[in-house]
Amino acid sequence: MTLIENNKNRKLFFLNTVSSSLVIMVHEDNYVFLPYFGSKIEASDIDYIIDGITEANYMADTDNKKKFQLELIPQIYPSYGYTDLKEPAFHFVHKDGSRITDLRYKSHNIYKTKKKLNGLPTVLSNDDSEVLELTLFDELKKVEVIITLAVFEKHNAFTKSVKVINKNPSDDLYIEKIMSANIDIQESNFELIHLAGAWARECHIKRRRLEQGMQSIGSIRGASGHGQNPFAALISPNTDENNGEVFAMNFVYSGNFIISAEADMHLNTRFQMGINDFDFGWTLMPNEEFQTPEAVLIYTNKGLGDMSRTFHKLYQDCLMSNKYAYKERPILINSWESNYFDFNKESLLKLAEEGKNIGAELFVLDDGWFGKRNDDKTSLGDWTPNEQKLGGSLSSLIDDVNKKGISFGLWVEPEMVSPDSDLFRKHPEWAIQVKGRKIETSRHQYVLDLSNPEVCDYIINFMTELLSKNNITYIKWDMNRNITNLGSSYLKPERQKEQAHRYMLGLYRVLDNIVNAFPNVLFESCAGGGGRCDAGMLYYMPQVWTSDDTDAIERLVIQYGASLVYPSISLACHISDIPNHQTRRKERIETRANVAMWGNLGLELNLNKISEEDKKVITQKLEIYKSIRSTVQFGSIYRLKGLNAQNEYAWMHKSIDEETIVVNYVQICVIPNLVTKRLRLEALDSKSKYKVNDSEKLYTGSELMNIGLMLGEILEDAFAIQWIIKKVN
Ligand code: DGJ
Repeated sequence: MTLIENNKNRKLFFLNTVSSSLVIMVHEDNYVFLPYFGSKIEASDIDYIIDGITEANYMADTDNKKKFQLELIPQIYPSYGYTDLKEPAFHFVHKDGSRITDLRYKSHNIYKTKKKLNGLPTVLSNDDSEVLELTLFDELKKVEVIITLAVFEKHNAFTKSVKVINKNPSDDLYIEKIMSANIDIQESNFELIHLAGAWARECHIKRRRLEQGMQSIGSIRGASGHGQNPFAALISPNTDENNGEVFAMNFVYSGNFIISAEADMHLNTRFQMGINDFDFGWTLMPNEEFQTPEAVLIYTNKGLGDMSRTFHKLYQDCLMSNKYAYKERPILINSWESNYFDFNKESLLKLAEEGKNIGAELFVLDDGWFGKRNDDKTSLGDWTPNEQKLGGSLSSLIDDVNKKGISFGLWVEPEMVSPDSDLFRKHPEWAIQVKGRKIETSRHQYVLDLSNPEVCDYIINFMTELLSKNNITYIKWDMNRNITNLGSSYLKPERQKEQAHRYMLGLYRVLDNIVNAFPNVLFESCAGGGGRCDAGMLYYMPQVWTSDDTDAIERLVIQYGASLVYPSISLACHISDIPNHQTRRKERIETRANVAMWGNLGLELNLNKISEEDKKVITQKLEIYKSIRSTVQFGSIYRLKGLNAQNEYAWMHKSIDEETIVVNYVQICVIPNLVTKRLRLEALDSKSKYKVNDSEKLYTGSELMNIGLMLGEILEDAFAIQWIIKKVN
């Protein structure tokens, strides 16, 4: 980090990555500005950017002096109350009822190696992080705000979070709004791109022109949610995979969030991300502090592809646990779509054995193994194995599964309780509810109040027991409903608005405990599919069940969208049955398998019921997947077709050593009377020679990138083709 102090008593902090720069300026009046965020510039005195804005201001005082107006100047953390009437980054209510805060620079601290945020998931690196802590202070009310900006130079990324400390010795402080990040950009000619959808339709790319006014996406569902993913980017018009400016933000948080973009009257944009301020409030007693979750900020002028690869590398290197980040993930076979609640020991062992024979490495027993759970109406909270159904103890079932040569994983949904459960009968007050009002069920279940530490301890205890007593190597951690009737029997009336965030803090404490106590267990997060597919969860659980929609064609859209932010290794993609359980579509097994090779491949089908022919194909496909697994899971992805969700999708994975390239193409509907088209690849070495599948001819990288691979004759819907390409010299 470079600090320039000039003779106007201004400080300029240059946070530079390999290809981007974020520059902070402390003004002589101790305002903190953001003169520049964009492509890399060398450190030099660029304070003229700020002077230029004031000089060009059309407003002048009576003595004809140009007005210094905060609203016109790009800021890093704007306050409410003075000459900036755009959306502030925070809103405090002081003890005397006043709501104006005047934050000015007090001090700064620069250090290497970012520290973990207390109680929150954090992007961390031992050898590629440098931190600027800016302490701002409101002199009148004695409120301190520490903005932590970290730069990950080699990863081309930044993080930002904020801590508020109430330094007032006698008065408490009420926080009504507290964003993690604010970026002011002197431009509004943008489109807003984000990921929206619903259950079974997660992460569909949405893109719209930014118009003057406030545009926002968010969640007040108690989870990041299926509706909107906590990611958004401002992109220059016509941005595609390889071209265009991108200002991206992703939230390292799994609860309520808001991302807003305000294009203002001066054609500038204010871009914010943080905990949703709706129904949020937090009281800080004297000397107490509040830490926001962190936001990841990325700038590139090389389009969405570069943005995605930047997120992927950052998350694999600096967010996921080291142990799993570059560890090939096992091919699992999950019992859900195969059996739902209907199984016994024999059918489970048969599925495990078939799975093993076909090449799976991990058998996962999904819902239905505990209490009286033969449907979704009962027993959440009673995590005692149903020995009658399992034909003995859970550990004896696991032994028998292991004897088939396959490891064992289990489904749990610890944050929930069924009304029909011993746990609820014993602790009705543990369910989230407003006293005196009816508690609403969703999927016949209530949500446990994780703002109550006793509830969190109960989860830690039963999970610890479950994992200590049984040879479980994988856990699928599900969460199948959002939070309604928000209210806590534990929190005091004046603290009720803290509940949604305290729930997340409770959950993170639980996960921290369990994941650290059982480092050999691979955790997969799930929330009815991708209802909590976010970087917060990825910190604890290095893979996510991307969607309950297992239809290959639907998955193209979902996986494309999710891959904008989340790395292939983190996205669980399963080969499922036909007709598909969500859409009734029937794609060929080749297509289902190739689409699952987008990410972390698994199986979700009843192998006892499918044809021998399909079994053969799956066996071959799993062998292929194993041979390219490290390329898909550790390499980098290039999306070749599909950004506008039309008839064709194509993507390629390039291995870390750049020696192996896996290319996939899917055409959804047949086009009659077509002459073969070609698929052009990207990011190869022009001069090197490549072998395509078993071809005798070798192709140069430039041929493959400019002429491309022949698609051939396509005579069926949902047609898929895959090439494995090896660099020869
Ligand atoms: C929702 C998940 O997304 C499914 O995969 C399955 O685990 C069910 N819950 C089980 O109830």
